[in-house]
Amino acid sequence: MSVTTPLPSGESQAATPAALIDPFNRHVTYLRVSVTDRCDFRCVYCMSEHMSFLPRKDLLTLEELDRLCSAFISKGVRKLRITGGEPLVRKNIMSLFRALARHLETGRLEELTLTTNGSQLEKYAGDLKAAGVRRINVSIDTLDAQKFKAITRWGDLSAVLKGVDAARRAGISIKINAVALKGVNEDEIDDLLRFAHGNGHDLTLIETMPLGEIEGDRTDQYLPLSIVRARLLDRWTLEDIPFRTGGPARYVRVKETGGRLGFITPMTHNFCESCNRVRVTCTGTLYMCLGQEDAADLRAPLRASPDNGPLFEAIDAAIARKPKGHDFVIDRRRKQPALGRHMSVTGG
Ligand code: GTP
Ligand code: 5AD
Ligand code: SF4
Repeated sequence: MSVTTPLPSGESQAATPAALIDPFNRHVTYLRVSVTDRCDFRCVYCMSEHMSFLPRKDLLTLEELDRLCSAFISKGVRKLRITGGEPLVRKNIMSLFRALARHLETGRLEELTLTTNGSQLEKYAGDLKAAGVRRINVSIDTLDAQKFKAITRWGDLSAVLKGVDAARRAGISIKINAVALKGVNEDEIDDLLRFAHGNGHDLTLIETMPLGEIEGDRTDQYLPLSIVRARLLDRWTLEDIPFRTGGPARYVRVKETGGRLGFITPMTHNFCESCNRVRVTCTGTLYMCLGQEDAADLRAPLRASPDNGPLFEAIDAAIARKPKGHDFVIDRRRKQPALGRHMSVTGG
């Protein structure tokens, strides 16, 4: 199925619906949409090896995803990030990008982007650029092919690197995301930095968050970025800079490379007070916070009527319950995840 019509139902209604402002006066302007819970990798910190995925009939169609995203854009969302699972494994996904690009043309949407594992990028880089995608985030935790296989279980580093190169050649800016993993890639941060900055990419380091049941022990994997940063200072000059993307990373410039390095620290430093985002899953469930269970079903109101009224009502009711923040803790005693939900459900 593909999205072809430029004006899905609901969009022609002229009245501007109310903006998304939560009880803490935070404006929700960033929507992350997970278009599939499936992935062609099985990263050890993200998924268990044997995952059960949603039946395809439960998924929103691409037309419904378009209508949902467009409804959020009409309520003030300026930045849209397509995630997964791995978004580029969803069949016909480029038709969704091409359809959403109309909001870039009108100027209502500032940024259309995605977070990807890079496995399919070589194939799609040109199409993404043509659809108006200017910047993407690619997850690469190691540059060692064997370690890459060990972390992702199913991934092939060379395919990902070819994808990153294709995106660069297509003129897309790239941010490399690396989850800092104790005893796994902590000795490779310098290499990742040289690789990213040497090729003109940003690099962001992420603390592992306790989401979803995995086989390993998160206590073993968790590496506070405060430690990584302190170690980096032995070899690099890190200058705080005010650069922001609208995401949670705080950036420094590495004087020796001239490149940007970001830190996402949900465990050691909470950034919830400036949270501007919500997440929708591929079944149309809206999560108001990555670190809380509360959610709202948007699929029923979406399907209930071709008019967006019921959908807007459901969105407004949900935003009115957006919690103050997450309280992730890696529980050393019980070894339980803070949330049962896997990261791949909401796409991070
Ligand atoms: P930029 O637009 O480049 O800043 O993207 P981003 O950092 O918002 O998105 P990305 O998909 O690259 O996410 C990187 C990591 O940040 C993922 O592990 C996300 O789970 C995490 N992240 C994004 N938003 C939040 C948030 O609101 N809370 C927490 N705890 N983590 C988040
Ligand atoms: N903790 C932190 N980051 C995670 N990611 C996936 N699972 C986790 C987790 N438990 C990262 C991926 C990707 C981003 C969307 O989220 O590596 O870069
Ligand atoms: Fe797939 Fe990303 Fe999860 Fe790895 S982290 S298994 S690439 S969704």
